[in-house]
Amino acid sequence: MRPSGAAQVAGVAGWPISHSLSPRLMAAWIEAAGLDAIYAPFAIGPEGAEEAFKVLAKTGLTGLNITLPHKEIALKIADSSSDAAKAVGAANLLTFKDGKSCADNTDVAGFLSSLEEGGADPAYDPASGPALVLGAGGAARAIVYALKLAGCPEIILSNRTESRATALAEEMAINCSILPWDRRDEGLEQANLVINTTSLGLKGQNDLVMDWDQASQSCVVVDIVYTPLETGFLKAAAGRGLKTIDGLGMLIGQARPSFEAFFGVPSDDQLDVRALLETVLRHKS
Ligand code: ATR
Repeated sequence: MRPSGAAQVAGVAGWPISHSLSPRLMAAWIEAAGLDAIYAPFAIGPEGAEEAFKVLAKTGLTGLNITLPHKEIALKIADSSSDAAKAVGAANLLTFKDGKSCADNTDVAGFLSSLEEGGADPAYDPASGPALVLGAGGAARAIVYALKLAGCPEIILSNRTESRATALAEEMAINCSILPWDRRDEGLEQANLVINTTSLGLKGQNDLVMDWDQASQSCVVVDIVYTPLETGFLKAAAGRGLKTIDGLGMLIGQARPSFEAFFGVPSDDQLDVRALLETVLRHKS
């Protein structure tokens, strides 16, 4: 349906934003649901983001997904916020009503739903064993919180800057051990789940290298990076016969509750949005 003057409008705000896959994904769901709606990219620079969000809240937009570098600011400016956004300290979703904004964090649910994809059948259950989390930045915060919510019995954290890992473990009050970055392989033997939350492996960056020979054969390996879809980290793990999950699952998983929050109807679960995004990514590379 072509949008009318009464179309519901939502979008994604970040800087840069032209690489975002969210407009393609949301457009596919909007079309499938036959909605009179638009989902647009908003290039909002680091300066003035606070002001921009406050103004956009008063324009009739139903909401915004928030991506780098604005996830902390979004939480700060919101009139109210969910427990997940508060616990993570960041918001990837702002919904607007009557000029007021509400912050949420659907990366948490997105990560958990990505564990249902691809790697394990039945879905991987975080309560089934220890997880090795590599990195302690913003993405790690959402993932550690998700693992805690899902009953993960132990988290092994390793980050290049060890003090960030220690601070994260203390703040989240989790059962956690910290490994120095150069000894991160020592967590592999014990871990049922290994997650790269660092930016290593992103196109143009070095790969995150692990000694997969030390991993248990039943371990599931996740990368939240999706450009490229198969990072060096996942490729090496798959080469050792380990189950792997790429970053598209989390992208799609965080978008589903966002779509419903913006447009009031669930996203189509029959549409093969993974295939759609894989095609978009192939054309980009
Ligand atoms: P995000 O919000 O995407 O998580 P971030 O908060 O900047 O971004 O965190 C990036 C993560 O990648 C951090 O864990 C960072 O490690 P530091 O805390 O030591 O900075 C990690 N990272 C980035 N470049 C890295 C590199 N070359 N080697 C190891 N870790 C790296």
